[in-house]
Amino acid sequence: MKATVVVGLQWGDEGKGKVVDYISDQYDAAVRFNGGANAGHTVVLNGKKTVFHLIPSAALRGKLLFIGPGVAVDPQRLIDEYNEVKPGHLLVDPRATVTTPFDIWLDGKLEELRGSRIGTTGRGIGPTYANRLYRVSPRVCDVAMGKDPDFGPLYSAFGYSGDLNGWSKMYSEFLRQHMGDVSQELLSLYESGKALLFESAQGTLLDPIYGTYPFVTSSNTIAPYVSIGAGFPFNKVDDVVGVMKAYQTRVGAGPFFTELSGPMADRIRARGNEYGSTTGRPRRVGWLDLVSVRYAVRLNGVTRIALMKLDVLSGLERLLVAVRYRYNGKATVDFARSLYEQPEPEYAELDPMPETDWASAIRSGRLPREALGLVELVERETGVKVWLVSAGQERAMSVEM
Ligand code: IMP
Ligand code: MG
Repeated sequence: MKATVVVGLQWGDEGKGKVVDYISDQYDAAVRFNGGANAGHTVVLNGKKTVFHLIPSAALRGKLLFIGPGVAVDPQRLIDEYNEVKPGHLLVDPRATVTTPFDIWLDGKLEELRGSRIGTTGRGIGPTYANRLYRVSPRVCDVAMGKDPDFGPLYSAFGYSGDLNGWSKMYSEFLRQHMGDVSQELLSLYESGKALLFESAQGTLLDPIYGTYPFVTSSNTIAPYVSIGAGFPFNKVDDVVGVMKAYQTRVGAGPFFTELSGPMADRIRARGNEYGSTTGRPRRVGWLDLVSVRYAVRLNGVTRIALMKLDVLSGLERLLVAVRYRYNGKATVDFARSLYEQPEPEYAELDPMPETDWASAIRSGRLPREALGLVELVERETGVKVWLVSAGQERAMSVEM
């Protein structure tokens, strides 16, 4: 009996897909419980790269796969991904909210109407969750039963001219075949001794309550949302893997206190291949921000950390890590205050990491001294053990500490 959550400690794209794949051997089932097709979780297996958007990243390992009631389900994308991955098992909760063409259209429209663009992925995520709260969204069970979405008054209010008559018919058969009570199934599996792996999408700083609002996504991204988004009892989760990169990235607009520009940013972006896996947009990059990571560790109740992409920093002539924020000249570890006041990051300067043969460093378990310095700093500032260090895309390029 084991229930583990894998959660992002930054602005998404921390490497959750790789971590899920890495530990999936120890689990029987993998579960998505938040977000939707805005997620892009990359797994590289035998040199072949697969990007998962809606289906859990453990799909390549033949696990039982679940999409919980907290997920925004775009049925077309779900079916396309299903046909590509051909998983042996997939169960989708009937209560999950369905993303319709109206939601996708409205996502673009709202970006136009808002004064400042958020830079959403355009996958209809905000409108899907908002329309759920307006109580007009169709659920998976509605579409499965062939009931078309009916937003009549909303369509005219927003000037939408699409016609969704007959839309549900395209998806009802597939959804009927794969629909079931995920919440109940997960508890039964757990009680029969099976191990469950919950895979969060996006990252803590994109959480609509705790993140850098309004530059956030529209479903909760933190580990406690498992109890809502999968209907799994919160007191049964005892293991939370916090995934973080050795530097910071963000795709889309919003505050980013340790952001870099110029040649240093270009090098990190190129070496880390920091381009959106869902949208292809270049990601903004910057130094690791341990003030925000510490905040994320606390909110998620992280019990172990996976530190990713260390190799990307090797060969840079400088290595900085933000460890405090200054407000009015006073140094503190208070992240929440930065949500309404501009902080000045205060950096620790570490010895830069030399170019390294990472494959043999990982194989022998002997990381360069400078890499260990970074690991120690992360542990000291967060109070949590770094359990896994990763320095490359393949599963083998990771070492447990
Ligand atoms: P939305 O989730 O498409 O509404 O986008 C809201 C914000 O979250 C934008 O800044 C997106 O770039 C960001 N975002 C959404 N999903 C992801 C993700 O999976 N990784 C990284 N950023 C994301
Ligand atoms: Mg991603």
